[in-house]
Amino acid sequence: MELTNRNVWETYLQNNYLPFFMRDVQEFEYNDFKTIVETDQERTNKLIVDALEGDIFILKNVVSQEKATAIKNKIYQSSKDTEASEFIPEDTTIPNYHARSFGGKYKDGYDEIAHAYYYYRWNPDDMGVFEIVNEAWNLMKIFNGLGVDGLKNNVPSDKVIDRIQVLHYPINAGEITTHTDAARWQITNFGINLTEQGIDFNNGGFYCLDRDENEFELESYVKTGDGIFWSPSIFHGVKTPTGFDEADWNKEEGRWQLIAHAIQSRCMEDRRPSVSYAKFKQDPVKVKQEFMFKEFING
Ligand SMILES: [Fe+2]
Repeated sequence: MELTNRNVWETYLQNNYLPFFMRDVQEFEYNDFKTIVETDQERTNKLIVDALEGDIFILKNVVSQEKATAIKNKIYQSSKDTEASEFIPEDTTIPNYHARSFGGKYKDGYDEIAHAYYYYRWNPDDMGVFEIVNEAWNLMKIFNGLGVDGLKNNVPSDKVIDRIQVLHYPINAGEITTHTDAARWQITNFGINLTEQGIDFNNGGFYCLDRDENEFELESYVKTGDGIFWSPSIFHGVKTPTGFDEADWNKEEGRWQLIAHAIQSRCMEDRRPSVSYAKFKQDPVKVKQEFMFKEFING
């Protein structure tokens, strides 16, 4: 089954680029999606092509609201016990850590303002972040044709590593501007929302660019404990969560999301970092070609 899923991806990518703009939204109960992937190959094949055509998938009730809130509280609490660090290059089996990004680090209109927490498989799962996402992440690995254990034992010298990133966008402060991420190995990113619009903040949150290159607001589709998966080559960003209070990085308020993904380590020669929408517009075909990693895949 896994081989078949991989074949569907690879056959598509022989003649097409990864998607850069969103086509449509599809919504499933998590358990229904799981049943499809486990029992209905024909439907699964179609969903894989839909993902590659730019569909965004919402999975309702991946974990309970209580579990999602509990892990958020636990991570927030941990930020008080350990100092925020500088960003650590992923070139060896580094420890789990957290760091704050205040913006202004990048060029070409790409900016990130968030408190990020990083967790790696080679470290003990003290916080239980892998435990919370593993079952669904396993399903994503099967869907993505990697096999249930695909990439799991990788370390930075293998060039592609699994990582959990928990992002806290502080109220009235956090944001990530519109960008595209290289995603050749895992194809889809998978995120679980730990907060929701209308409760933890008023407006703002996740959006993608649709085929008319307009921002399509997705945050209101995803409640606490729901999941979302999409090819992160599709232009996306996070608008500042608004409301309630003054911006205060020491408070828990704002938007929280747990993202499970496979990323390039610092050992990847010729890494392809995220590209801003403004930079993409200068030469779209160049970015589309670079994101295929043809030489890496064939090697
Ligand atoms: Fe991204």
